[in-house]
Amino acid sequence: MSIDYSERIPNNVELATNRTLQRALEHWQPHFLDWWGEMGPSDFRLDDVYLRTAVGVDAKGWASYGMVKMPDYRWGIFLAEEEKERKIGFGDLEGEPVWQQVPGELRSAFLRLIVTQGDTEPASVEQQRLLGHSAPSLYDLRNLFQINVEEGRHLWAMVYLLHAYFGRNGREEAEGLLMRHSGDVDKPRILGTFNEPINDWLSFFMFTYFTDRDGKFQLKSLAESGFDPLARTCRFMLTEEAHHMFVGDTGVGRVIRRTLEVMREIDSDSPLAIRNAGAIDLPTIQRYMNFWFSSALDLFGAEASSNAATYFAQGIKGRPDEASFANHQALDEFYELDIPKGEDGIETSSIAMRNAMNQVTREAYVRDCQIGVTRWNRLIERAGFDLRLSLPSIRFRRTIGAWAHVPTDPEGRRISAAAFDAGAKHWLPSDDDRSFVGSVMQRVIEPGKMAGWIAPPERGVNSLPVEYSYVLLH
Ligand SMILES: [Fe+2]
Ligand SMILES: [Fe+2]
Repeated sequence: MSIDYSERIPNNVELATNRTLQRALEHWQPHFLDWWGEMGPSDFRLDDVYLRTAVGVDAKGWASYGMVKMPDYRWGIFLAEEEKERKIGFGDLEGEPVWQQVPGELRSAFLRLIVTQGDTEPASVEQQRLLGHSAPSLYDLRNLFQINVEEGRHLWAMVYLLHAYFGRNGREEAEGLLMRHSGDVDKPRILGTFNEPINDWLSFFMFTYFTDRDGKFQLKSLAESGFDPLARTCRFMLTEEAHHMFVGDTGVGRVIRRTLEVMREIDSDSPLAIRNAGAIDLPTIQRYMNFWFSSALDLFGAEASSNAATYFAQGIKGRPDEASFANHQALDEFYELDIPKGEDGIETSSIAMRNAMNQVTREAYVRDCQIGVTRWNRLIERAGFDLRLSLPSIRFRRTIGAWAHVPTDPEGRRISAAAFDAGAKHWLPSDDDRSFVGSVMQRVIEPGKMAGWIAPPERGVNSLPVEYSYVLLH
């Protein structure tokens, strides 16, 4: 299962033995490179970036590191090792062998899932395309570009499946993935969050913490799929995804550490005083969290979903970490769901567990999000300040599902629309917040130096010092 880098498209799927597929992908490749040139990171195409590239797909030592100009990055097709005699692990077909081809009757469901997943990958590159100009350090600039090239590779991962298993429909959809663009009025990306602009690095860290983590849970569900090539593709994507979440987690943590340093220096917790000292006050960080977390929650879909039930029943998409559940059929089980009732009430409704799979996944996601928040709060506590950050309720600011457009406060209490509008300026980033955060985004390119609003990382990349020149700007 070694990766062949002598081919035009590096791969571990023996692409050379399937000439038709190879030609089709080689035809798509220049379209991808055009897209990267136009919609990828703006203005850094000639610079050398210290990037990791996949050299194997096993858990240990899969990457090599070196200076690469981004357009020369070796995007390719890498699937995790095949698990011999793998069986479907859930639903009506539990225990049956997995499929190496897409069963005809499940074709449109798989096509839709793969296109939706594929659409998010280039979308995030588009959202982040201008951030290089305001990077707080060369270390951060390199991490941004690492994420960008890997999201590009994730697009390759989905395009491979489209080309290899969905014939003409798949090829058309693969073209479509390069035609829609984040925030485009006429041809937007499929999912809401992926059309939100990411104009500053606080948003970038929130996005990589919250939105890439949604990706983790989607990929975990798809890694359980009965369609084995999809499962293997997603398993390898997860190993890459871990770094994206690391960047978000440590990024937000470093912003908070710097803020706490400034708060101690000036001996004040006044947001204005903190801002005047060039750091980002904690209430603003909380508002950014409220925004990106609530936006990510919608990505899991409606709480009660017959599509989710079908996906589960038919072996299309499982629960994240399906093996950790006692009952893989999820029949005769119920889920207690809180839904809005009347003008201002809430009632509990019992729904069949299979219909609640989106909600089960969302809850696993929320627990995972909480881990970082708890860690950040320990930093604040140790620094001797009383404020605590918290995830808003999963009912807050939803636009999809049972709580869509039902006004609540961040604790999830139902309130009037007028009260929501009045509260929004305390709960969500205001224009003033965004322009302040934008104003501190000064570019820093001296090796080892950091912008004033963020603390240095604890360590560099791949055992190199923080002061290493991770990007050689020309
Ligand atoms: Fe991705
Ligand atoms: Fe990612």
